[in-house]
Amino acid sequence: MKKIFFIVGARPQFIKAAPLLAEMKNFPVKIKLIHTGQHYDHNLSDIFFDELEMPTPDYNLNCGSGSSVEQYLSVMSRLDKVLKEDRPDLIVVFGDTNSTGASALCARLNKIPVAHVEAGLREFDKDIPEEINKLVTDAIADLYFCPSRTAVENLKKSNVEGKIVQSGDPVIDLLVTGRKHFDRPELPAEYGLTPGRYIFATCHRQSNTNHRAALENVLRIFADAHLPVLFPVHPRTMKAIKSFGMDHYLQDKNIRAIEPIGFWDTQALIAQSDRVLTDSGGIIKEAYFHGKYVLVFDNQTEWIEVINEGKGIVCGANYEAAMRHLKNIPDTATPNTALGDGTASKLIAEGILDFLEEILDHSN
Ligand code: UD1
Repeated sequence: MKKIFFIVGARPQFIKAAPLLAEMKNFPVKIKLIHTGQHYDHNLSDIFFDELEMPTPDYNLNCGSGSSVEQYLSVMSRLDKVLKEDRPDLIVVFGDTNSTGASALCARLNKIPVAHVEAGLREFDKDIPEEINKLVTDAIADLYFCPSRTAVENLKKSNVEGKIVQSGDPVIDLLVTGRKHFDRPELPAEYGLTPGRYIFATCHRQSNTNHRAALENVLRIFADAHLPVLFPVHPRTMKAIKSFGMDHYLQDKNIRAIEPIGFWDTQALIAQSDRVLTDSGGIIKEAYFHGKYVLVFDNQTEWIEVINEGKGIVCGANYEAAMRHLKNIPDTATPNTALGDGTASKLIAEGILDFLEEILDHSN
């Protein structure tokens, strides 16, 4: 029986892997789950395994935090040992974190084929670590599962050699099938908020958290917004807020700063919000699904469909631009389907099986 490793490490990867693991549960392949340990706090890791009913990882590499280079070195050296002792026929990586790029590189150097879920996205800025992870993974993968037509076109322009499948996004599968988990109009009240009368906000990108002026602009926007802002704070952001001495913003009466929350609570709170402010690719996509207008604290986004369709706007960490757009935002849009219809996991699973059969044919 062929053997596949799913490699995950950070929050956005758990939620992409979960529906695919469920889809492939009874398939005639041996699947093992590897957690690199990039995220390790309960609210960034275990909570997703619990609520999305993911199996306990077969291996935890316990790589932990560090600079991008340190994370690459740690994931590559620890994964290398596993791949040499327990060699799979294929590894599947997700998204664009350091765990993604390092795992893909390590597998390919061991001559193990790589499938990339959420392939082909680009931000066209090589100063962003996620962009390096996208470029590295897509340069060496053998099988590409793209969430959108734009992603397919980006790969075609790069003349990649592997097979490209426009699968849609597996997170959308969770949203399409999981409505009962996030249809919770009572949840905002637990945070002292009224449904439809608050903004859901996140901020964790290095381009915002590593720069005092950018982070302060984001916090000022939250403080001065016309509606209260519910702000689950990523540990990176909390550290930066404290080190820049900006804790007072967390006490501001317009900002409800809370611990990071799980996937379903996030969906319930986005779905009940008036609009979304974020620099997270995942949240942009989820806001789009729920039909919420999204203001992006970044200079670009890989989810260009959202901007092109007029369902969101990119405004950097620019206070004046954000305040102007916040006042002139179009009425809440209707739910959107351009990033998938709930069949991504099925298409990805079929693509993986076809690929494994081709390997079998070649080895006979
Ligand atoms: C990573 C991904 C990013 C993704 C995000 C989701 C990269 C380059 N970035 O960013 O694409 O959107 O995950 O959250 O891989 N920390 C904790 N507890 C944890 C994990 C991290 O306190 O469980 C703190 C540490 O101080 C760490 C910092 O957060 O240094 C950043 O964590 P890291 O995994 O490097 O990057 P993220 O900002 O989470």
